[in-house]
Amino acid sequence: MAKHRIAYLPGDGIGRDVMDAAKIVLDKMNLDAEYIHEDVGWEFWKSEGNALPERTLELLRNTDCCLFGAITSKPKEDADKELNPELKGKGYVYYSPILKLRQEFDLHTNIRPCKAYKGNPLNYRDDIDLVVFRENTEGLYSGVEYYPLPDELMTVLSKHPRMKRFTIIPLEDIALSCRIITRNGARTIIRQAFEYARKFGSKSVTLVEKPNVLRETSGLMLHEARNIASEYPGIELQEANIDAMCMWLVKNPQDFDVLVCSNLFGDIISDLCAQLVGGLGFASSANIGDKYAIFEPTHGSAPKYAGQYKVNPLAMFLTVKLMLDYLGESELSGRLEGSVARVIREGKVRTYDIGGNASTLEVAEEVARNLDI
Ligand code: IPM
Ligand code: MG
Repeated sequence: MAKHRIAYLPGDGIGRDVMDAAKIVLDKMNLDAEYIHEDVGWEFWKSEGNALPERTLELLRNTDCCLFGAITSKPKEDADKELNPELKGKGYVYYSPILKLRQEFDLHTNIRPCKAYKGNPLNYRDDIDLVVFRENTEGLYSGVEYYPLPDELMTVLSKHPRMKRFTIIPLEDIALSCRIITRNGARTIIRQAFEYARKFGSKSVTLVEKPNVLRETSGLMLHEARNIASEYPGIELQEANIDAMCMWLVKNPQDFDVLVCSNLFGDIISDLCAQLVGGLGFASSANIGDKYAIFEPTHGSAPKYAGQYKVNPLAMFLTVKLMLDYLGESELSGRLEGSVARVIREGKVRTYDIGGNASTLEVAEEVARNLDI
């Protein structure tokens, strides 16, 4: 029996392209693993009314971790339109599988490293090396949303002094998304960020929130961050507002080490950080829980490039690196990152986004070849 059982879910669009590329690299490394494919994605929403079938959840429950390609997520109305006509009107509701997976397996910590590899012409600066810790299961992604606003909820909310001006608006003209932050959720992500900072010798952890406006939810994050920071005397807690942080990241990105944020702020800022080091073609990501983990590049499914083997697979290889770290395969992880860094530095084989004309699979072959150097 193989040492590791890995669920292998390409998902939608270019997810397949980059997962095929990953397989070339994994095979070359001879990782002692079994890769098990299962269904997930838009196709299964359309045909079954469920983008994440039970059989896929079952597979994940019986594997060590999952490597995930990409997923197409569309707003509600567009999703309803594409559902198989026989299933329409039967109460099927589209919900992004990756969001469901993060919650179902309590993958509370999303880690998104952004490192400027030497020789990458797309680097905004060459001295950027930061990592975003994004809370991954709550906040504005809790999924607790209403439209129209239920009457009983309005009754409760109308007790809040600031709600007054909304009480005169018809319920069908109000939509509500709840930003739920729990103390435990806040503590977990902040502690993970500090532990990481300690492990890798980072000097600071920056909490990116907005407590001057979101007084309760961001306020709770800030309160917990200050408490936890006191346990890590060598690591400075910096406090930044999300808006100012977008400015600072463009102005002085080299000053930052570890960023920690609630879910939506982490989502937004991790795309910004990705662009500082070459764009989504370089942005890896890990969803980590206490018992399970899913590794997926930050990029989406880019349907217009699907099946063309044109997109940059380096984000996926760096994601595989995160998976190898999780599996305790540190030697292979180091070799893979070394190879990716070398291929970037040499610049001989590059996809279109870096000004080259190599295919996704040619880059995979080049990274595979460089593993032994
Ligand atoms: C990400 C993506 C997802 C998110 C989408 C696809 C639902 O943007 O992983 O950053 O919003 O979390
Ligand atoms: Mg995102």
